[in-house]
Amino acid sequence: MIRANQPHIENLIGRPIHELDSPALLLDLAASDRNIAQLSQFFSDKHAQLRPHFKNHKCSTLARRQLDAGSAVGITCAKLGEAEILADNGFNDILIANQIVGDIKLRRLSDVAQKTNVTVAIDHLEQARTLSQMASATNITVGVLVEVDIGMNRCGIEPGNAALELTQKIQPLPGIYFNGLQAYEGHLVNLEDATERQVQSHQDMQLAIDTRRMIEAAGIPVNTLSGCSTATYDMTGIMAGVDEVQAGTYATMDCTYHKLRPELEMALTIICTVISCHGGNAVLDVGVKGASGEFGSPIIADHPDAQIPNFCSEEHCVVQHISGLHVGDKVQMIPSHACTTCNLYHQLHVHQDQHIVDIWPIEASGLLT
Ligand SMILES: Cc1ncc(COP(=O)(O)O)c(C=O)c1O
Repeated sequence: MIRANQPHIENLIGRPIHELDSPALLLDLAASDRNIAQLSQFFSDKHAQLRPHFKNHKCSTLARRQLDAGSAVGITCAKLGEAEILADNGFNDILIANQIVGDIKLRRLSDVAQKTNVTVAIDHLEQARTLSQMASATNITVGVLVEVDIGMNRCGIEPGNAALELTQKIQPLPGIYFNGLQAYEGHLVNLEDATERQVQSHQDMQLAIDTRRMIEAAGIPVNTLSGCSTATYDMTGIMAGVDEVQAGTYATMDCTYHKLRPELEMALTIICTVISCHGGNAVLDVGVKGASGEFGSPIIADHPDAQIPNFCSEEHCVVQHISGLHVGDKVQMIPSHACTTCNLYHQLHVHQDQHIVDIWPIEASGLLT
């Protein structure tokens, strides 16, 4: 983890970003605000509403801005620990888009449910049974979404009869209530061809919508169908039968997602120092311990010709075809995966016109449980 090793916070406000010690995580406030406004505006006249996914940045201040922008019904998160942080920070309609299993976690979930409305995903009767036992024993109520696998092959029960049967079986269980379905088309979010993404995601989300209609026809109301992403918000997010859009990355963006969504700005960067220059290359002081690499190499802001062919060192990044830099210069790296990069830092240095205007804690950074 990168600890807060900057000079005292108050001294940084108003200072140019290049005075930060590196590496440090930066958020361009105006760019992030424009992204947030763009999605809120998009959903302002749609049936579906946003339920922004906290796992993107794990920062409650940024999450609050997403909800305050409008067209949002609540917040999504991936981990129980994220839900604890959200509940402690006053968020009151939390979806944990994941299965919560085991006594320790169920006890923690009960504590969250004492503070706020919480809904969890299930895809197996056993999860529902243990959840129901905990809820009854601790006198709380938890909403559940039956997760349907629409092609990702991660969690999720088969759409159609299997989902209907599971929904029917959980109806009598005390302490939990069936609130609807979850269907995430994560297997399609990296399809760069927008038409292909549109066609495929419609086809696959239709499986969840058909399942919804089947459950409704069996006399069980389906309050919500929750899913979708930054890659598909204007595709599956406008289908009749979809109610909630769990887009996350739009708030920060990264260079991978920018190829799919050029209309959204890359607001998240890492300030790096050039620690060596030789043979036309510059070596930066950030490797995969400071910018996640599972989606490929980062890019360097304002240096479109720069190339990073092999981003794999722990603490170094060798940039080719970058000119005009000297040892000691600072550059901004745009990570290839915002979510796992934010998870490495404890603070977002928020800047406007290249000057630091605020510092927001990333409260859920590094949190695995
Ligand atoms: C369950 C779930 N919903 C939605 C998303 C969409 O997030 P993003 O907009 O960042 O792609 C994800 C991403 O991992 C997810 O796991």
